[in-house]
This record gives sequence, structure tokens and C-alpha cells, in this order.
Amino acid sequence: NHHIAYAPLVIDNQTAAVFGVALTTEATGQFIDRLTTVILAIAGVVAMLAGLICYVAAKKFTGPILRLKDAALAIGRGEFDRVPNINSGGEIGVLADAFNQMADQLLETNRLLEEGRNALESRVLERTRELEGANQKLVDAQEQLVKSAKLAAISQLSGGIAHDLRNPLGAIKNATYILNRTMSADATINSNTKLKRNLDLIGAQVDRAERTIGNLMAYAGVNRLDGEPTDLNDLIQDCLSSFVDKDGVEIAQHLDFAMPKVLCNSDQIHRIFSNLTTNAIEAMPHGGRLTVRTRTESGFARVAFSDNGTGISDADLGKIFDPLFTSKVSGTGFGLAVCQEIIDAHGGTIDVTNNDDGGTTFTVNFPLPE
Ligand SMILES: Nc1ncnc2c1ncn2[C@@H]1O[C@H](COP(=O)(O)OP(=O)(O)OP(=O)(O)O)[C@@H](O)[C@H]1O
Ligand SMILES: [Mg+2]
Repeated sequence: NHHIAYAPLVIDNQTAAVFGVALTTEATGQFIDRLTTVILAIAGVVAMLAGLICYVAAKKFTGPILRLKDAALAIGRGEFDRVPNINSGGEIGVLADAFNQMADQLLETNRLLEEGRNALESRVLERTRELEGANQKLVDAQEQLVKSAKLAAISQLSGGIAHDLRNPLGAIKNATYILNRTMSADATINSNTKLKRNLDLIGAQVDRAERTIGNLMAYAGVNRLDGEPTDLNDLIQDCLSSFVDKDGVEIAQHLDFAMPKVLCNSDQIHRIFSNLTTNAIEAMPHGGRLTVRTRTESGFARVAFSDNGTGISDADLGKIFDPLFTSKVSGTGFGLAVCQEIIDAHGGTIDVTNNDDGGTTFTVNFPLPE
């Protein structure tokens, strides 16, 4: 019923005594049980401590690794601005430093690429604008070419036709003059108002046709003549005398008689004044007032024709000097084109404005000799 244990006491290699301990079996069992419990408890505590240490160590390692993973994914998505700066010690720290450097370099490369892309985009935009401008110029030049070719053909054709029509028109004009004279001599015929009205109508239409023919020939360059010193006031008075009381239009003249003579072709300038007067009268179908002014200003002799007629719409203002532009049923649209041609050839200008109180003012500017 006992567990017995002996142990010798050896002194100088000789057994001096023997000690012995005897324990009952029951006491031994209890002692072993208690020892087992203590060992298990210690093992449990050690296991918990080991687990805690493992957990903390794992956290310390995996935290930066997980952040590195997130940062790598962000870079993959091109979100360079969302890459965090990763701080850590040991090998992970070295890896994190290398990663941070790579991220900085990628960020810089990306910034350079972005700059390059922006510069390229603005170059492309600039070039596109230049190309559009060049294309527009090409289209304009093409239009101008077609227009010039058309106009050259028209003016050549109309110049020829006008030349051929001049003689029959002259004959009609002569015949009308003779008929008018014969009528005045015979009181019976002279009292026939219907006949007289129709003869006047023929006369007026012949005048208009002659003016149109003159314009077409002037545009076709048929009547190129040399210039001579000319008194513009004389020319204006002469021109306006044939429009006196025409179609209920009153004509006022405010002329600067101190104005020096200008070097010009009087026939051609007469045509300008005649065309401007005709246009003004046609713009006042129910009558009105045309004022013609001359003045010297800034080295120019200026002649202004102001009417109080219909005025010109903003849309039409840019087109009225174009050949063939007309708003009239019976117009040819050559009147102002001829004015422009003639004044250009004299080194002068012609401009137009709508008056504040209605109607239009055309101003012809002749350069004065210095
Ligand atoms: N004084 C004006 N008032 C208003 N509109 C005008 C005046 N002068 C010219 N215009 C406008 O300019 C257009 C062109 O004039 P332009 O003299 O060239 O041709 P037109 O008078 O129409 O025809 P044409 O002179 O060949 O008989 C006219 O049709 C008219 O619309
Ligand atoms: Mg006209």
C-alpha cells in the first residue's frame, strides 16, 4: 500500500548512509493529480500568452502588407493621388520604402504624361483652328474666283450687248424728240394728252435704258478715259439739273465753292453722281428731299448725298456694292458696283450710312493732291 523511494548519501566514493521515504498510494495519487492540474493550468496560460503574442506580431506584419496591397490596387486603377505613405520597420519597412519610391516616381511620370497630353491637346486644337481658318480662306478664295469669272463673263457679254443697243436706243430717242417737236407745232395733236403721256413715258424709259447701258459699258471697262483737273461742284450742278423736280423729289445743294479741283475723269464721276441721285430718287417713291453737300476734310474732297427715303437694312448694307445685287424689280444691280469701280480707279472711297432720322447718306471721297 506504499510507494517507497531510497537515496544513498555517498561521501568519498563510499556510501555513508541511505535515506528512504515511504508514501501511501493514496497520498501519491493525490500529489500526481494536483501536479497534473498545476501543469495544465500553466500550459493553458502559456498557450494564451503565445496566442496573444502571435496575434500582435501578425497584426504588426500584416497591417503594412495590407496597406501595400490596397496601394498597389489603387495604382493599378490609376489613382495615384490616393496612394498612402507607408511607414514600417524591418524588411517590411524596406519594402514599403521601395514601394513609396515607386509610387512617387509613378506619380511624377503620370504628371509628366498629363502635362504632355494637355500640351498635345492644345496643339491639336490650335492646329485645327489654323486648318479651319485656312479652309475658310480657301472656300472664300474659290467663291471669289467663281464670282470673278462669272462677272468677267457677264461684263463682257453685257458690254457687247449694251454697245449694240446704244444705236437703236439713240434712234428711238431721236424719233421721240422729232415726234414731240411735230406735236408742239400742231395744236390739235398737242391737245391729245394720252399721246403726250405715252411719248413722255417712252422718253423716260429710253433715259433709264441709256443709263443702264452706260453702267454696263462702264463696268465692262468700255469707257476708260484719262483724268483732268475738275471742279466737282460744277459737275454736281450739271448732273442735278437733269433731275429737277423728278418724281416729287426736292433737291437741295450745300456746296463748298472753296473746294479745290480734283484730278478725275469727269464723265465717269458724272456717272457716279447720276447713279447716286437715281438711287436716292428711287428710294423715295412718294417724294422726299435729297441734299447734296460738298466739303474739304483731312486731305479729301467729300461729296455726300443724303436722302430721307427707305434706308437700307443691316443685312443688305454689306451687299449693295456687289455687282448684280438689287432689291428692285427693274434694277440690274450694277449702279453702285460701277460707282465703286470708278472711285477705286481714282484712288478714292465710297461709303454708306443710314441717317438717324431715316434715309441714307452715300459719301464719295476724292483724294486731294498734297
Ligand atoms: N439711296 C438708297 N436708299 C435705299 N437703298 C438704296 C439706295 N441706294 C442703293 N440702295 C440699295 O442698293 C441696291 C443696289 O443699288 P444699285 O444702284 O447697285 O442697283 P439698283 O439701283 O438696284 O439697279 P440699277 O442701278 O442697276 O438700276 C438697290 O437695289 C437698293 O436696294
Ligand atoms: Mg441704282
